[in-house]
Amino acid sequence: MAGNSFGNLLKITTWGESHGPAIGAVIDGCPAGVKVTEKDIQKELDRRRPGQSKLTSPRNEADKVEILSGVFEGRTTGSPISLMVKNKDQKSKDYSKIKSVYRPGHADFTYDAKYGIRDYRGGGRTSARETIGRVAAGAIAKKIIPAIKINAKLLKPTAKLIDKAKKENDSVGGLIECTIKNVPPGLGSPVFDKLDARLAHAMLSIPGTKGFEIGSGFKCVEMKGSEHNDEFQIKNGKVLTKTNHAGGTLGGISNGMDIVFRVAFKPTSSIALKQQTINNKGKKEVIEIKGRHDPCIALRAMPIVESMATLVLADELLIQKTI
Ligand SMILES: Cc1cc2nc3c(=O)[nH]c(=O)nc-3n(C[C@H](O)[C@H](O)[C@H](O)COP(=O)(O)O)c2cc1C
Repeated sequence: MAGNSFGNLLKITTWGESHGPAIGAVIDGCPAGVKVTEKDIQKELDRRRPGQSKLTSPRNEADKVEILSGVFEGRTTGSPISLMVKNKDQKSKDYSKIKSVYRPGHADFTYDAKYGIRDYRGGGRTSARETIGRVAAGAIAKKIIPAIKINAKLLKPTAKLIDKAKKENDSVGGLIECTIKNVPPGLGSPVFDKLDARLAHAMLSIPGTKGFEIGSGFKCVEMKGSEHNDEFQIKNGKVLTKTNHAGGTLGGISNGMDIVFRVAFKPTSSIALKQQTINNKGKKEVIEIKGRHDPCIALRAMPIVESMATLVLADELLIQKTI
């Protein structure tokens, strides 16, 4: 299976399945001397953990991180950092019914079509547990860019709407907005690795995402150039723009304004309502998905969005130091 790594100079590889013994990440390219403790990483993982509210999956995992390599006496050594979280609250029998039946909106059919084999327990590699490795790696990347502040928030839906969907055995989508402050001008490369393109790649690699927009985003199609152009000015000795329709990048390079982007998450596909589908022999089936699921993916995705953005920015800062 290709495509388990992300990043150029700062490269992460995530590994593991939802119901395997453990899950984690390897981070290659982290500079030596960065102060990191398991506590720093745990703080971020605790924000991602399920079972913390009645509006998230009740799977109860401590998600305790262990640093296996690359950190000595509290500082990175420059060698690959391996991070592991043991899976504990697996209930694989919850999933035995979906062994051969394709869940609508999930990746069962496409995995079978591509690999001819799939670890169906808890979604295997397609599970949100894969994002543990991203968040753990993001906690280390955060140490490389201490001045840059990244914050994601849920724009919609409300807790009331999520609760209603949950009671109806259904699910809802959600929009997350992320703001990145204190970005120096000059990060990003102008052609295939445009900063906005790299952020889009990072965000759309998060399971359950369906859309990405930066700055004015899709609204730009309704605007005139005179409205959309951000006029330049000097403020406190800095080059700034009066508005920020660009969302912090021009020509794929940061312009010193806040980077602002939004990510659309689809409604969770695993719902307990009856749905029509087929099995792996092409026979019609009716499926009701039992087990423990999130009624709104976006509600749990904020630390994941922040971590992926952190990985992109830290990578770009390291690249900037080499030119
Ligand atoms: C934090 C988080 C929690 C998720 N929880 C669930 C869940 O409980 N049930 C589910 O079917 N999908 C859940 N997903 C989404 C699936 O992992 C995803 O839909 C699936 O891998 C198919 O990929 P795609 O939606 O990107 O095409 C979650 C995703 C994230 C990021």
